[in-house]
Amino acid sequence: MDRIRIVGGNALNGVIPISGAKNAALPLMIASLLTSDTLTLENVPHLADVELLLRILGNHGVDIAVNGRREKQSGSYARTIHFTCRTIVDTTAPYDLVSKMRASFWVIGPLLAREGRARVSLPGGCAIGTRPVDFFIEGLQALGAIIEIDSGYVDAKAPSGGLVGAHFTFPKVSVGATHVMMMAASLARGTTVLKNAACEPEVVDLAHCLNAMGAKISGMGTRTITIEGVTSLSGARHQVLPDRIETGTYAMAVAMTGGDVTLTGTRAELLASALAPLEAAGAEIIHLDDGIRVIGHGDAIRPVDIVTEPVPGFPTDLQAQFMALMTRSQGISHVTETIFENRFMHVQELARLGAKISLHGQTARIEGVRSLRGAPVMATDLRASVSLVIAGLAAEGETLVNRVYHLDRGFERLEEKLSLCGAVVERISG
Ligand code: EPZ
Repeated sequence: MDRIRIVGGNALNGVIPISGAKNAALPLMIASLLTSDTLTLENVPHLADVELLLRILGNHGVDIAVNGRREKQSGSYARTIHFTCRTIVDTTAPYDLVSKMRASFWVIGPLLAREGRARVSLPGGCAIGTRPVDFFIEGLQALGAIIEIDSGYVDAKAPSGGLVGAHFTFPKVSVGATHVMMMAASLARGTTVLKNAACEPEVVDLAHCLNAMGAKISGMGTRTITIEGVTSLSGARHQVLPDRIETGTYAMAVAMTGGDVTLTGTRAELLASALAPLEAAGAEIIHLDDGIRVIGHGDAIRPVDIVTEPVPGFPTDLQAQFMALMTRSQGISHVTETIFENRFMHVQELARLGAKISLHGQTARIEGVRSLRGAPVMATDLRASVSLVIAGLAAEGETLVNRVYHLDRGFERLEEKLSLCGAVVERISG
């Protein structure tokens, strides 16, 4: 199994091109099931989760054509992918695929809306929490779907005449359930009003793409989204928005190691709630036309408390990285996780590097230390893994990050991007 070897201590200096967002690309790709025309997505990142979803969509009958081209100047892969689903050949999403990636459950929305039925495996829990699907089931039932749970599968059927628009209030903000309800309601008869909807930029991106396909969605980016159903959707061309989590991750790495890095192809407004605490911690953030410049002062990090919350709050997907930064702050900070009940797996591993962290329910208390020391570490999810990379970059000596496949799910060419900025990072195969 591959490992990442890091020799810490170097400041980061240079340019890092930011890729298209994984969490925007996945629902956009799934939207291709809603139309028999071609949906073309630009700026699709090259990630393990994207490749898995390509396989899943292929099973449902989506024809996929990839145009990959490496941009000389930025070094990024400007991948454009054409998705054409003339007919849905299979409305079942089996356990062996859905269990590998929770987002594949989201095919339930388009399959049900276009074909009138879907049989999709329950995704099960995962390392960061139990992650139930009750909001999806209740929401689709509100649109008239008849749903049964049978042998670990969600069996959903639309009423004769198709799904019907309805008013639905999410019990708690859910990104995935908002994606699915927007897709399903786009092909329902009549108007759907979604209350307490997610406002994440990836939800807004999906709504824009669906509207380009002929949907009538308004209110995206607010807690109330209105969808006027249409009878069919057409093809479109859409550019995947920049990855705000990748942006924030590299910004935190620079804040921790010190240095001066320009993150290109991204937008500061996508992660305002994460950049503010980063500035409070002492990093300088300069907004540019095509990205942001981050200047870090590695040895003078101020302690800052954060609480993860849905947008406009601090993103849970940057919590582990911010905690890594706080391990070297000059004081005591608190990180509270309110989205997932078990998203603290990095705590024990950061402790292996010399961090002083204690857990009190959903809050971690971090006492900054003068230095971290490299060690072998591993983590059980994507963002926890990258927090260990960041800590390793700032630690003295060698850190070996095991289970690299987690990183490959969500960070495109991580070691290459960091090496180009002066970090000593390499992948060790086998
Ligand atoms: C999305 O997951 C992201 N995944 C996650 O990123 C991200 O952490 C999360 O949103 C929150 O921002 C993708 O976009 C592919 P939720 P999602 O439904 O949609 C509870 C990463 O590292 N809930 O917004 O699955 C749920 O358990 C990943 O890239 C229910 O109770 O998250 C959680 O506590 C990890 N019932 C909360 O809502 C439901 O039916 C928010 O989850 C659905 C959700």
